[in-house]
Amino acid sequence: MRVVVLTGAGVSAESGLSTFRDADGLWEGHDPMQVATPEAYADDPGLVQRFYDERRAALSRVEPNAAHLALARLEAALGDDLLVVTQNVDDLHERAGSTRVHHLHGRLRSAWCTSCDDRHEWDGPLGDRPPCPGCGARALRPDIVWFGEIPYGMDLVERALWSCDHFVSIGTSGVVYPAAAFVHWASGRTLELNLEPSMGASDFAESRQGPATHLVPGWVDEVLGDGGPN
Ligand code: APR
Repeated sequence: MRVVVLTGAGVSAESGLSTFRDADGLWEGHDPMQVATPEAYADDPGLVQRFYDERRAALSRVEPNAAHLALARLEAALGDDLLVVTQNVDDLHERAGSTRVHHLHGRLRSAWCTSCDDRHEWDGPLGDRPPCPGCGARALRPDIVWFGEIPYGMDLVERALWSCDHFVSIGTSGVVYPAAAFVHWASGRTLELNLEPSMGASDFAESRQGPATHLVPGWVDEVLGDGGPN
C-alpha cells in the first residue's frame, strides 16, 4: 500500500504556528506579497530577512503535535511506502520522527547562497548578512520557495502521486499550486482532512472536517488497523 500525504499550515497550527490565510488575510501581521516574493526581497532584503529570522527563531518555541506524531507512526509501519510532501517550512515532521519528508517550499532551517548555490543548515539569523560557510560571500537568503519561484522536486512528487494507492491532504486551503492540483494527479483513493472544506474539497473522494490533532491519529489508526483507509 503506497501512501502520499500532503500537509499544509493546518497540520502545524495546533503547535502554535500561524497559518497563512488567517481571517484577516495577514501572515504574522504581514501581507504575504510584501515578504514572500523575490521582488519583496530585492526591494527590502532587510525586512524580508528579519521576517524569516523571526519565523526561524519561533521554531525553537514549538513542538510537534499529535498529527505530526501520528504520521511518524505511520512511517514506522509503512517505511518507504509512505512519502510526506509538505508545503510547510517548519521542521515539525522531522522532529516528530518522520524521515521521508519532501519540503516543496523549502525549509526555514536551511540557508541558500545565491553566489555559490550551496545550501547550509542554519539556525541563527540571516539579517546580519553572515558570510556563506562555503564561499564567504554575504549572499545567503532563506531557502524558501517564494511566490513566483519553482517548487522543489516536482519530478519526485509526480512519480509518487502517479503510483500511489492513497493520497491524503491535511491542513491545506488548496489555493496554492501545484499542491492544489495533486488530487487530480493521484492515482489512488483521495481523502482530505481539514478544519473546514478546502477550495478543492469536492475533488476528493472523501473530505472530513476537524482539527488535525484529532483527525490524523484517527485516520492512521484506521490504516494500521484495517490494512487500508476507507
Ligand atoms: N487542523 C486542520 N486544519 C486546519 C487547522 C487545524 N487545527 N487549522 C487551520 N486549518 C486549515 C485551515 O482551515 C486552512 O484551510 O488549514 C488550512 C491552512 O491554509 P493556508 O493558511 O492557506 O496554508 P497552506 O494551504 O499550507 O498554504 C499553502 O501558500 O503562502 C503559501 O507557500 C505558502 O506553503 C504555503 C502555501
